[in-house]
Amino acid sequence: MGRLEGKVAIVTGGGSGVGREHALLLASEGAKIVVNDLGNNAESTAEEIRDSGGEAISVLGDVAKWETGEKLVAAAVDSFGDVHILINNAGILRDAMSFSMTEEQFDEVIAVHLKGHFVCARAVAVYWRDAAKSGSETPRRIIHTSSESGLFGGPAQSNYASAKGGILTLSITLGRELSKYGVTTNVVAPRARTGLTDYIQSMAAPDNPEEFDVYDPANVSPFVVWLCTDEAQEVNGQAFIVGGSGIWWMRNWSHQNSVKLDAERWTLTNIDDHRELLFGDLETGIPKFDAPPFS
Ligand SMILES: NC(=O)c1ccc[n+]([C@@H]2O[C@H](COP(=O)([O-])OP(=O)(O)OC[C@H]3O[C@@H](n4cnc5c(N)ncnc54)[C@H](O)[C@@H]3O)[C@@H](O)[C@H]2O)c1
Repeated sequence: MGRLEGKVAIVTGGGSGVGREHALLLASEGAKIVVNDLGNNAESTAEEIRDSGGEAISVLGDVAKWETGEKLVAAAVDSFGDVHILINNAGILRDAMSFSMTEEQFDEVIAVHLKGHFVCARAVAVYWRDAAKSGSETPRRIIHTSSESGLFGGPAQSNYASAKGGILTLSITLGRELSKYGVTTNVVAPRARTGLTDYIQSMAAPDNPEEFDVYDPANVSPFVVWLCTDEAQEVNGQAFIVGGSGIWWMRNWSHQNSVKLDAERWTLTNIDDHRELLFGDLETGIPKFDAPPFS
């Protein structure tokens, strides 16, 4: 018996990279899968699952389009009777420094990542709220995909970093809204060699096939799939970097320090006078790109 027997999962961008690995592992744990992508690779993943004895269908569609979310939920319910898990994973890169970025590059990335995550989350939220109102108490899961660029602000990625940063906050908002319907929502920032990153030399597969392949995208999926199990019900609104043999639990935007007057508005001079109290010896420059090391 797999850990996800009886569950139905939608995986966006499941035709390649980490999305494909998530779909395969979810299926091997017994989940029925709706594989979404833009092209034929969605059906290749679905076929691979069926060839291994699992159940899967493919549904083409651009996650940046409102109707795609509804189409994916309808396909899951029509084919498999329900939907329990949404893996928001589809993504693209259009890197450029802010001073060189075009409007098209900015809009496209925000649309696929930030809007795309919301479009699919909204569609399952509608279905899950109705199901809960009809008495369902089944656990439901959303796993979103962010990035270290979204956590720390990657250079040449104002479009991608802000979309991925927005996804971190979107997840918490969805958690506040949907927890009462049995939904947990968590974010994973993967580290993997895929179509998006295969130009990075340091992520290449090891020459020695015996050696652990740190950047194999399949390394990301076990934690994602674990978050989908009933055992992870108490983990909600959290964010993790996952890759190689590591899982890093992340937290950000905590309260640093404060100053407060006694029921009066600040003046610039007053701020000058309190500057030392607010900042003290603390670092006030660009925050460190604090990516945890692999070893
Ligand atoms: N690979 C990494 O190290 C890494 C790091 C940080 C974040 N991520 C994120 O992981 C996710 C998966 O990326 P990957 O690395 O597997 O890359 P990938 O290119 O292999 O996979 C992305 C998939 O999303 C699909 N896709 C793109 N736009 C889509 C759209 N509008 N609608 C539906 N599908 C669409 C692509 O066709 C592709 O199959 C992305 O959200 C990416 O930003 C990856």
